[in-house]
Amino acid sequence: MGAPGRSADGAHTGYSRYRIRAMSIVRLAELSDRPELARLRRALWSDGSLEEHEKEIDAILAGDWSPIFPYVIFIADGADAPPVGFVEVTLRSRADGCDPSRPVGYLEGWYVAESCRRRGHGSDLLRAAEDWARRQGCLEMASDTWVDSSLSQRVHEALGFEVVDRVVNYRKTLS
Ligand SMILES: CC(C)(COP(=O)(O)OP(=O)(O)OC[C@H]1O[C@@H](n2cnc3c(N)ncnc32)[C@H](O)[C@@H]1OP(=O)(O)O)[C@@H](O)C(=O)NCCC(=O)NCCS
Repeated sequence: MGAPGRSADGAHTGYSRYRIRAMSIVRLAELSDRPELARLRRALWSDGSLEEHEKEIDAILAGDWSPIFPYVIFIADGADAPPVGFVEVTLRSRADGCDPSRPVGYLEGWYVAESCRRRGHGSDLLRAAEDWARRQGCLEMASDTWVDSSLSQRVHEALGFEVVDRVVNYRKTLS
């Protein structure tokens, strides 16, 4: 709580509520991040074991994950804390709603530990991913998320993404 004034949402309330903006340092992931990064990835993608995530991290960091386009992982370090979040970004030759004549920066995964959310780490990670994509020559960034994740949709839209499509994915066993 602060002195009387303007609240974080801009309304006059008599008392200010200042959201804590954490200090995050965003950097490229390194092999030494493997255990913590595997834990964070598993929190986002729970269908793989920690060992499977570690193998994928090794492949990504070795440059063996995507044969055509670069694929990088940025980590957000909190103050005096282990990594608090990550973003994985690559290039795709096409993405729904984007100019098909040039590659697009694509968010493959984006996660901040639940106890560290709403302090700006997610925005810092996105900024690093966008800067990276710009350096690859991209003019657009794309992403996707689960239709039932209203949190993720809210954050995407708060940070400038617009909805271009909604899809249903199917599978069928070929007998
Ligand atoms: C998406 C995610 C990475 C955002 O991380 P974060 O560190 O909380 O993001 P920020 O603190 O930078 O928030 C950025 C803005 O998003 C919006 N936002 C974030 N959390 C919100 C919430 N719970 N409710 C409403 N808006 C929210 C706000 O506009 C916020 O800015 P503000 O705090 O200045 O108002 C995090 O919520 C997360 O890991 N979610 C689960 C995984 C996921 O859905 N990933 C995306 C698809 S792969």
